[in-house]
Parts: sequence; C-alpha cells; structure tokens
Amino acid sequence: MNPKIIDGKKVATELLDMLRNEVTTFRKQFHRKPGLAVILVGNNAASSIYVKNKISQTMQVGMESFEHHLKEQTSEIELLTLINALNNSEKIDGILVQLPLPAHIDAKKVLLAINPTKDVDGFHPYNAGQLATGGEGLTPCTPLGCMMLAKSIIGNLTGVEAVIVGRSNIVGKPLAQLLTAANATVTLAHSGTQDLQSVCRRAELLIVAVGQPKMVQGSWIKPGAVVIDVGINRLLDLETQKHILVGDVDFDAALPIAKAITPVPGGVGPMTIACLLQNTLLSANRRERQVV
Ligand code: GUN
Repeated sequence: MNPKIIDGKKVATELLDMLRNEVTTFRKQFHRKPGLAVILVGNNAASSIYVKNKISQTMQVGMESFEHHLKEQTSEIELLTLINALNNSEKIDGILVQLPLPAHIDAKKVLLAINPTKDVDGFHPYNAGQLATGGEGLTPCTPLGCMMLAKSIIGNLTGVEAVIVGRSNIVGKPLAQLLTAANATVTLAHSGTQDLQSVCRRAELLIVAVGQPKMVQGSWIKPGAVVIDVGINRLLDLETQKHILVGDVDFDAALPIAKAITPVPGGVGPMTIACLLQNTLLSANRRERQVV
C-alpha cells in the first residue's frame, strides 16, 4: 500500500488484538463475559450490515452479544421497556441502539432512556456533558477512532491547527472536544462557514464528516496535511455501472498533496467498531469495580 495511506484496518486489528487479551483477563477475574446489547429496529439495509459486523466482532474478541432485532412497527413504549430491562440486567455492560430509528420513534427520548454508564455509543447528553467538561464518561466511537488515526501519524497534537468539517452530535462536536483536550487549535466548520475552501487550507489536520461525496477537493488541502475522511457515500460508478463507496474527500486528488490520508473504505470505518468494543470493556471494568 502507498505509505501515505493510513491503514485503518491495521490499526483497528491491533486494537482488537489488545482487547481480546484484556477480555481474557476480565473473564478470568470476574467469571463472566463483558456483554453488549445491540438493538436494531426495522430493516434498513445499511444498518443491518453495520449491526451484523458489530455482533460478529463482539464475539470475536470474546464478549457476549445480545441481539434484539425488533420489527419496523415496534412502538416507542416497547423499545423503552426493552431498554429499561437491559439497564437493569447484570449481564449487560453496553447498550447500543442502531440509528436511524423509524420516524414514529423519538430517537432523543430513546437515547435519554439508556443508562449513561452503559451508553457505549456515548450519545447520552450526560456523556456529552462529561466530555465537554473533562469528566469521566463514555466517548463516541467514531471520534475516538479519528483521534487514534491522527495520533498514529502526528503523535502529540499540541498546537496542531485542526479543522473539522461537519458539526454533528455523533462526530463533529465530540471530535472538537477531544482535539481541544489534546491541545490542538480547533476550527469547527459547517454548512454556514464562509469560504470553506480557505478554512480547510489552513488545516494541518483536516477531518471531514459531512456525508457529501468527494466534497473536499485537492485544492482545499494544505500541502503536507493529514486528512481523515469520515464519510461513507454509496455512488454509482458510471463506467462500470457498479456501486462504489467514496468518502467526503476527493481521495485521488488529495493523495499527492497530503502527508497522509485515510481511504474509504478501510480508514475510519474499522476503527469505529474497535472503539465500540473498547468502550464496552471500559464500562464492564467500571461496573465490576463499582466506580459507576
Ligand atoms: N448509525 C450510524 N452510525 C452509528 C453509530 O455510530 N451508532 C449507532 N448507534 N447508530 C449509528
């Protein structure tokens, strides 16, 4: 592979290998497996694939997976009742509700119902607040993965000029907190940002999470920048008439300009699941040590 391409699969595999060892130690010490409950409502095709991958990797590191596949018509109260049961279950250390939820269910209400100590996605407002104020909580997985990849290239992020494009609760906002805590100088750009191109060109570390295929062009990238592309967009390749996955950055244009760049697929994607399992083990250890 081109040495400029950041191999997310490799970094994720190393993390998963480490977690497998730590899970073995946990099982010997506490005579049980860390448990992750995954809830999928309905049959969204992309969600079904994500959930399948999460379940298979949970088992591969030696944790117990509890799958709850609910039908599309499931009522909000049924879902809240299930979450309440999982909150109270001794076997469960992590609860993940796959998003998006069907339109008749209020996702905010559902995320609020998860016990924050089991919120391995880190989406509960309690955990968002802990992250913002430097407290102990659970941190969203994709931003954690981005940080690991950025540090794998740059090392210490103190003083680094970082630009994030995209202000979602899942990626952009928590990532701004993590980068700030790591002493980077952070700009959080979004759809209202003026002259986005110039803002991006300032970045020594550019992280893009907007869901717009190939939006960031080569000319937007400062020579020698490290580029982390969070986007996963499905496009029809007109030449081959096959669907392909592309990121939010024009990879081919960016590669010669950047110091290093994540590919899509095989960049940030594999890190997200590895960080989810890291959060699950963290939650399991905290629960056993009664620090929650
Ligand atoms: N849908 C897309 N990404 C995610 C994620 O990281 N967690 C959950 N729960 N749902 C998602």
